[in-house]
Amino acid sequence: MTRTYIKDLKDNIEQEVTILGWVNVRRDHGKLIFIDLRDRTGMVQMVALPNHQEASEIANKIRPEWVLEIKGKVNKRPEKMVNADELNGELEIEILEIKVLNEAKTPPFDVLSDGHEIGEENRLKYRYLDLRRSRMNKNIKMRGKIVKFIRDELERKDFTEIETSILSKSTPEGARDFVVPSRVYPGTFYALPQAPQQYKQLLMMGGFERYFQIVKCFRDEDTRSDRQPEFTQMDLEMSFATQEEIMKLNEELLIRIVEKYFPEKTIQEKPFPVISYKESMEKYGTDRPDLRKDKNNSDLLAFCWVVDFPFFEKTKDSDNPQAEGEWTFTHNPFSAPKDEYMDDLMAKKNVGEIIATQYDVALNGFEIGGGSIRNHKLEALKSVLEILGYSDEEMQNNFGYFLEAMKYGTPPHGGIAWGLDRLVTILLGESSIREVIPFAKTGEGRDLMMNSPANISEAQLKELKIKFDNSVEN
Ligand code: AMO
Repeated sequence: MTRTYIKDLKDNIEQEVTILGWVNVRRDHGKLIFIDLRDRTGMVQMVALPNHQEASEIANKIRPEWVLEIKGKVNKRPEKMVNADELNGELEIEILEIKVLNEAKTPPFDVLSDGHEIGEENRLKYRYLDLRRSRMNKNIKMRGKIVKFIRDELERKDFTEIETSILSKSTPEGARDFVVPSRVYPGTFYALPQAPQQYKQLLMMGGFERYFQIVKCFRDEDTRSDRQPEFTQMDLEMSFATQEEIMKLNEELLIRIVEKYFPEKTIQEKPFPVISYKESMEKYGTDRPDLRKDKNNSDLLAFCWVVDFPFFEKTKDSDNPQAEGEWTFTHNPFSAPKDEYMDDLMAKKNVGEIIATQYDVALNGFEIGGGSIRNHKLEALKSVLEILGYSDEEMQNNFGYFLEAMKYGTPPHGGIAWGLDRLVTILLGESSIREVIPFAKTGEGRDLMMNSPANISEAQLKELKIKFDNSVEN
């Protein structure tokens, strides 16, 4: 049996073909039964005629979402039945034989609509059915194309894609860690990376100069429409590159993605406007401004860079808002200050005034990426950690390996990470990143399909030497 894809039927007029796929709809017109069959390449209308008795009898029984193998003849439709706007609108399959490869239960919801009318919990529970709808299929395929395009473009620019560890160590990226208990070393835990920040800097120390990775990151924080506990970054790091060079390379890549896959969209301003954090807060009250001149135009993309963020801010205690808190970093403890603030950093002076080399990229009011030039001199990083309140001992315990690594000829370096889910969501005009993540979690971080998080067996707990203390309240 040679399979013919539905998109290729037009090249097989008057031929006999075998096609495989799912039943979209079945329409019973008395003696004639029409079946729309879809495969991953498209859809075609088929008809069972009473003169092919066996096929006709099977056609009578079949229901939506059954999986069929059809042997049929590709006929041209009569002139007045042609639908020029549709794939295969000029042809029809005369069914000769039907083999039912599998039956299907009636799906719990319509898989042919765009799905917006269906409760999201149900869509997530039966995600494998939800993925059959053409909108989701299109979103996931486009995501794949964009990722492939990024890989090709960066490879051309001599970047190496390098996978870094998932079983890692707690790092200060500003959110809570997900942790994994170790069986071999009871009482100790791996942490899942909130970002591969330290790994990518260690790769610069390892001499790679140009690294990128399409990578899962894990942050135990409250989920929102633009946040998932597990999300994907396009993560990148470069040695010997300036802030301007890194921004330019990323800007060009973003523009090329839009031009290649979304030619109907207009980028409001090129090169992207660059505004300072201060100006953004004063003018727009946010550090990810929506600069679109016409917010009703769904094809308008307003990218901008936001720069000159304060390096440190005081933590706030929600129970005691007047109290003077400790210094914390606004973005990334590994960032370098702008050159003119290096003396203040080293002297730990005017800490609140120090400006970081941080650059964020925003699109239509969402932060889609952020990065910085890093401190490549050990003493500067130590000064940051001291301002953050680390004692020498804490520094050694938390970052000993990193501080040691910095002593062996660390090149100047910097990088960025994009929120890939967010970027794809906005480009596709979707309202939530869950629409571009095949197996997304709910707002409360649950996987309703696999029903996770879930209990593990007593035996697993015992092996890990874990016991619950039920007296501790949340
Ligand atoms: P940052 O923490 O800003 O930087 O993360 C980079 C980008 O990732 C996206 N993002 C998220 N997307 C979905 N769900 C989440 N929970 C989530 N959290 C963040 C955002 C954000 O801009 N290591 C640094 C990057 C660097 O300095 O190179 C980092 O992780 O779009």
